[in-house]
Amino acid sequence: MAASVIDELEPVVGKLLDRHLSSAREWFPHELVPWERGRAIVAGQPWEPPEGSTMPSGVLSAIFVNLLTEDNLPYYTRALGTAFGAEGSWGEWMCRWTAEEGRHSIVLRDWVTVSRILDPVALERGRMQQVSCGVAPDPWSAEATLVYVALQELATRVAHFNTAKALDDEAGYEIMKRVAADENLHFLFYRDLTRAAIEVDPSLMVNVMERVVGAFAMPGTGIAGFSGHTSAIADAGIYSLAVYHDQVLAPTLRYWQVDELSNLDAEASQARDRMLAHVKRVGRIGERAEQQRLQRQAEMTPSKG
Ligand SMILES: [Fe+2]
Ligand SMILES: [Fe+2]
Repeated sequence: MAASVIDELEPVVGKLLDRHLSSAREWFPHELVPWERGRAIVAGQPWEPPEGSTMPSGVLSAIFVNLLTEDNLPYYTRALGTAFGAEGSWGEWMCRWTAEEGRHSIVLRDWVTVSRILDPVALERGRMQQVSCGVAPDPWSAEATLVYVALQELATRVAHFNTAKALDDEAGYEIMKRVAADENLHFLFYRDLTRAAIEVDPSLMVNVMERVVGAFAMPGTGIAGFSGHTSAIADAGIYSLAVYHDQVLAPTLRYWQVDELSNLDAEASQARDRMLAHVKRVGRIGERAEQQRLQRQAEMTPSKG
């Protein structure tokens, strides 16, 4: 049963890949990097941030985590190959997607290095540590992978774009926005592929969705100090439980019209009820945390006059 959904999707993958290729526009990482900021680096000399640099720690954490997550690409490609196979349209998509993802770490690292945003030694050690772990989310089935990557591409788009908005750096803003636009096209591909999977086997897909949504976490668990970075990123309002609920989970489930599916078996119908209750709970907890964050922020901001 499980293999047949993926087999049946093969022609849809072909069509969505064609749509993707006609909407994706070519871009060049080197054209976005502000090279004029660069200066010679002397081996062994300690790194210093640019004078007067005031980037908040949550924004620095977001850049660090976003970049190391992009660096971990080999294992996401491996996960896609394991889940969907490397043949036919699935294989074509995997290769094209890998090529597009590869430029994200290129452009981010070049910008970070010439702008001296992060200590390059700490960054390189972080990359070695993360990539040496070989850890990537590994959902248990091809259908689970499909749902996971749909949510994850959107979550990544949101994280990149919210990082862009938090930057006081025009070049950085354009770079993060450009990367977020790629992630958006990846999201649209998986979002519509998942919708096609729901049409093939709604009960199977809803059961899978409940488990994926219940356990969803951003990739990055192999990154040193990940939980500290996660809190700083949430404190900066870049990516938090509220953002996940409001900008990722709720709109995607709405698009899939999960609450309106009428042809579910009894087990899937119960799974849907549990999932929708879980999503509401996530929304409530996220909203409470967001209010507390805004209150903390207001208390820390000196009042005028
Ligand atoms: Fe990416
Ligand atoms: Fe992506």
